[in-house]
Amino acid sequence: MAELHLGQVLEYRGDALVEGPEAVSHRRRGGMLIDGGMIAAVGEADDLRDAHPQAEIVDHGDHLLSPGFVDAHVHYPQTAIIASWGKRLIDWLNTYTFPEEISFADPAHAEDIATRYLDLALMNGTTSMCSYCTIHPASVEAFFTAAKARGMRAAAGKTCMDRHAPEALRDTPQSAYDDSRVLLQKWHGTGRLSYVITPRFSPTSSADQLCALGALWAEHPDCLMQTHLSEQVDEIAWVRELYPTARDYLDTYETYGLLGENALYGHAIHLEPREADRIKEIGAALIHCPTSNTFIGSGLFDWPTRLAEGQQIGLATDTGGGSSFSMLRTMAAAYEIGQLTHQPLHPAQLWWLATQGSAQSMRMGDKIGALAPGMEADFIAVDLASTLAISQRVARAEDIWEAIFPTIMMGDDRAIAGTWVAGKRLH
Ligand code: GUN
Ligand code: ZN
Repeated sequence: MAELHLGQVLEYRGDALVEGPEAVSHRRRGGMLIDGGMIAAVGEADDLRDAHPQAEIVDHGDHLLSPGFVDAHVHYPQTAIIASWGKRLIDWLNTYTFPEEISFADPAHAEDIATRYLDLALMNGTTSMCSYCTIHPASVEAFFTAAKARGMRAAAGKTCMDRHAPEALRDTPQSAYDDSRVLLQKWHGTGRLSYVITPRFSPTSSADQLCALGALWAEHPDCLMQTHLSEQVDEIAWVRELYPTARDYLDTYETYGLLGENALYGHAIHLEPREADRIKEIGAALIHCPTSNTFIGSGLFDWPTRLAEGQQIGLATDTGGGSSFSMLRTMAAAYEIGQLTHQPLHPAQLWWLATQGSAQSMRMGDKIGALAPGMEADFIAVDLASTLAISQRVARAEDIWEAIFPTIMMGDDRAIAGTWVAGKRLH
């Protein structure tokens, strides 16, 4: 039976990253008709009630109905090592990340962490994500199996590494190609799942491996490709040593067929002008991971330059280099980095980044990340007064954005009153 969800509603009319709040309309008393896992109608509560008298009413009162959050770069296998102290990127990988990723050779461990991660994501209002797995096919199986059981639209891939990692975490160019291909053929397009070709980053892949994965992508160009780009200064210097003939970091991917419009480049902090120009020209996405960039000490995403270039940008937690599972906390960190780079991001821009911006970066903007007829019914009900600190500030709010901003800056999983995936309540 159709359900009519009533509450405050945000609808996107354009690109809010570019146009700001003008691109978003707000209904104080709006609603959404959900039928068969899809959004069938959005409008004023009274109009929808009149038009659909048979629908079951779910009244969310003052809560804000929003698209579920979309996390465009996360490492689910790092769930249990989030908030590990004191290291910068390469040491952090060697000290905390790689030892934990070795455990994913055990399918039972992979299943346990995939379940834990997805529960945490849903509790934080995240309904879709693009995740790295480990080199083990079992880690991909575990993630997709858990996401499928929840009916989620999710993307993920086997992380490929054939050097500069512990022996137990190394594949080869051929096995990376073969294993990725088998997983892709099994999972890509199965239900709401999609496969992502995933070379971890140039330091842990030989040229032969990048080349093999570039060939796989050329055979399956509708797949996404995710990797890391220009995250930390020491890392960039290392890439220069490892690939002495490359023009820059991006060129290590470009040369081997790993530059394309379905690419997602995580971090992209210290870009050279040529790299930024090429990415813009191709239309690939830059994925901003602000809590990670501060936590691991990577640097400040150049908001003014990237916005002026008109780049496709998504937002991500980068769990567990990132220090939170919450896209609210992630929006707050993006705002702070905006401030530090003299580009104060409007709440409308932040909310867009965490929903439609990330969805577009994953080439799923026509399915998720907005509340509109024909979209899949992945949505959340947000309590805009979830704590005393927030509610006392909201009491003075003069418009919807002033009412939302305290939740962006101070909110956490307590603000997520409910999470629905394909119309079904999962949290
Ligand atoms: N670069 C290569 N691998 C990783 C990772 O797991 N996390 C982060 N933040 N950066 C990386
Ligand atoms: Zn990452």
